Amino acid sequence: GPRRAAEIRALIRDVPDYPHPPVVFRDITPLLADGPALADVVEAFARLHLPDAAGRVLDGEIDVVAGMEARGFLLGAPLATRLGVGFLPLRKAGKLPPPVERVDYDLEYGSAAIELRTGTLRPGARVLLIDDVLATGGTARAAADLVERSGGHVMALAFLMELSGLGGRDRLAGRTVESLLRVGS
Ligand code: PRP
Ligand code: MG
Repeated sequence: GPRRAAEIRALIRDVPDYPHPPVVFRDITPLLADGPALADVVEAFARLHLPDAAGRVLDGEIDVVAGMEARGFLLGAPLATRLGVGFLPLRKAGKLPPPVERVDYDLEYGSAAIELRTGTLRPGARVLLIDDVLATGGTARAAADLVERSGGHVMALAFLMELSGLGGRDRLAGRTVESLLRVGS
């Protein structure tokens, strides 16, 4: 059965002041290393997009899972397999050959960009976005914009951990946000 949230939470290690103060790094490698826990996390997201006992699909059927580089890849690929759909990597700038669609965004310190190869998303595809952590929401907002600019439809955004108090959910206002764990920032 699905594990209690506290068990999953215990497998995410908080590293204070990394990579620099006052950031608390959320290390998901203990969770990734635990087979049954990883399977439970994947299952918790999958059940929102598969028919329930009444035949309803809670957060809607999807055509493709898209993950944000890098840690979104680690959860997104097994989730895609579980849902029986493909996986689309949203890459950091400069990793993909042209032509690409690109969205720039602000980080807590500095800026970044994510890219998607032009033409890799089927027009109208129903997309589930996934990442490990929702913090300020900058990455997620950029990813959603990138998918929509590329002709996809964002059904929901899935996060292992939502840090409340950094405004992430507000930046995703109007969208379906699925977070397994919610913790204070
Ligand atoms: C971290 C995390 C999320 C993002 C959350 O990724 O994995 O993707 O930050 O922050 P935000 O909500 O403020 O945008 P990071 O950019 O550190 O890179 P990584 O996944 O490649 O380790
Ligand atoms: Mg990341």
